[in-house]
Amino acid sequence: MSKRIVEISPSVLGADLMRLGEEIKMVESLGIHWLHLDNMDGHFAPNISFGPDFVRAIRKQTNLFLDTHLMLSRPMQYIEAYAKAGADLITVHAEAEDNCAETLEAIHALGVRAGVSINPETPVSALELLLPLCDLVLVMTVKPGFGGQTLREDCVAKIPEIRKMIERTGRDILIEVDGGVKQSNAARVIDAGADVLVMGTGLFRAEDPKSVVQSVMGA
Ligand code: DX5
Ligand code: ZN
Repeated sequence: MSKRIVEISPSVLGADLMRLGEEIKMVESLGIHWLHLDNMDGHFAPNISFGPDFVRAIRKQTNLFLDTHLMLSRPMQYIEAYAKAGADLITVHAEAEDNCAETLEAIHALGVRAGVSINPETPVSALELLLPLCDLVLVMTVKPGFGGQTLREDCVAKIPEIRKMIERTGRDILIEVDGGVKQSNAARVIDAGADVLVMGTGLFRAEDPKSVVQSVMGA
């Protein structure tokens, strides 16, 4: 089997926000191409983080691919602001209150790539009708809300099934995994079929981020 290219998407939630500019430069210097931005509204997830203005500020600092994860109950009313702020990919949740298919179509209409995410308790069947409308599936391996939680193996077990569903569509859809990914479990997540690994604490709080990247990308 040919080796897939795996990307790391460092989650800014795990960075030192007082030194964010330097943290982004470190990510760039490690040869990483993505940056994961967790936006939370205090309703969909029990935490509040940041919004489109923050994404715009980061866009001015970097050419990294801005992987914008919206943990919002009503994402539809904000996607235009995120698109204008410079998001490259906007991922919304299948569990959100807005109709997910319509939201994905609206994201594409704004000229931005669209992703769909499922929470740990959501079955993969929720993706069936959404796959034709998206470019990426984000598999949550923790409950949305906070960095630094432990990766759930029952969620990793969903990945091979999602991979099969994607193959049946004949479309090129990436699988991204979010929550508790670390150097110690990355190979398992990649073997299960992930293309993109979100890493917050596992990268920014690591003693030697460079060796984390080398071991994960070389995994
Ligand atoms: C959880 C967020 C994750 C989180 C990942 O709500 O979506 O992106 O920041 O952080 P770690 O890698 O520390 O679990
Ligand atoms: Zn996330």
